[in-house]
Formats: sequence, structure tokens, C-alpha cells
Amino acid sequence: MPKIKIAPSILSADLKNVNSEIKEVEMLSNLIHIDIMDGIFVPNTTIDSEFVKTIKTKIPLDVHLMVKEPSEQYIKEFIDAGAYSVTVHQEACKNLDKTLGFIKKNKAKCAVAINPGTPLIKIKTYLGIVDMVLIMTVEPGKAGQKFMPEPISKVRELRGIMPEMDIEVDGGINSDTAKLCVDAGANVFVSGSSIFGKKDRAGAIKDLISKIR
Ligand code: DX5
Ligand code: ZN
Repeated sequence: MPKIKIAPSILSADLKNVNSEIKEVEMLSNLIHIDIMDGIFVPNTTIDSEFVKTIKTKIPLDVHLMVKEPSEQYIKEFIDAGAYSVTVHQEACKNLDKTLGFIKKNKAKCAVAINPGTPLIKIKTYLGIVDMVLIMTVEPGKAGQKFMPEPISKVRELRGIMPEMDIEVDGGINSDTAKLCVDAGANVFVSGSSIFGKKDRAGAIKDLISKIR
């Protein structure tokens, strides 16, 4: 299995002080997860690429686009703003091949996400192209939701097919639910409220790591 990576989601951080918030988790993080919502694919809206430009950290930025039909220009703005990886949703992209290819061509890691109700078969033809698959463990759209156990079987099946690929889980991840996911083969853990919702962020990450390493 590939290396375990911790990806705090800044959606639950104090965005007015995003750089000091990130400083508190930097030492124990492998990626910083950035949720982008368009108000169409998901009901809420969040930050944009201009905001991403203001983020100052050496930790790679893992940009999760919960966006209906993201255009090439839109994606490029995030890559120019510093995205290390860009994740798009299978449910949101008609021409996924082209979208993933565009991300790759622009030198970012490309990933595809699937919602809890989307079967793995929908992305099987892209497994040779993508650097990572994101298995959502809540319906996308907001932080602090309850972890759904059903997608775990997709993690297990995917790990069986792709022993070396990064498999990310996102939604309701805490030290208990992360354990269920690591046992199924997930290696990239997004966590928002269970890290930034605590006063001691480093302590929260250490707690998470202690259950999955
Ligand atoms: C939800 C987002 C998540 C969110 C996770 O749609 O994709 O990244 O920040 O938040 P928690 O960890 O609180 O479920
Ligand atoms: Zn996310």
C-alpha cells in the first residue's frame, strides 16, 4: 500500500486567518485539502482561485472541485494558483477523459471523485489515467457530516485492483472512521471538523495518525 497521507481540509478552518491555521497543522500534514463548491453541483459556495493564491505553505495543495462541468480555464486558474492536485467529480463531468487529460497536461496530479451513491464501475476506464481516486464518505457539500460506511466496500475493491494508487477518503473522517478506511485500503485521509474543530489541532492529527499507522 502507498504511504499514508494526512490532508486537513481548510473548509473548517478560520479562513480569515488561513495561513496561521495552516501553520498549526503543517508539521503533521502531507497535503492541504481545499474544497471548492459552485452552488450548482452542491448547494453551497466557498472560496475561489484568488483565495487559493493567498495561501502560503510548502505543503502541496489538494484541490477538490465540487463543481459542475469545470471549464479548462477554470481548472487552469487553480493550477496557476498553486494546486498540486486537482480532483473533479465523475458525476459533474460529461467528458471526463478530456478533463483529466487537461489537468495532466498542465502538470498537476489528476484525480476523480465519486459520491457515496456512485458505483466504482463508472470510473473503471479512468484508473489507468488518474493519480488518485477520491471515495466520498458523505454527500459532498458541507463539513461536519456523519461518516457513511457503505463506500468502504468501494475502497476495498479499488485497492484490490490498484495496489499502488493513492485512494483518498473524505467526509466524516475521525480517528475511528479512518481506522475502518485504512483497513479497507485507503491511504489519503481528508479531515476537516475533526481537526480544525478542535483547539489542539496537532493533538487531533496525532490522535488520527496513532489509529492508522
Ligand atoms: C465535504 C468536503 C470535505 C469536508 C470534510 O463535501 O469535500 O472535504 O471539508 O469535512 P469533515 O471532515 O468535517 O467531514
Ligand atoms: Zn473535500
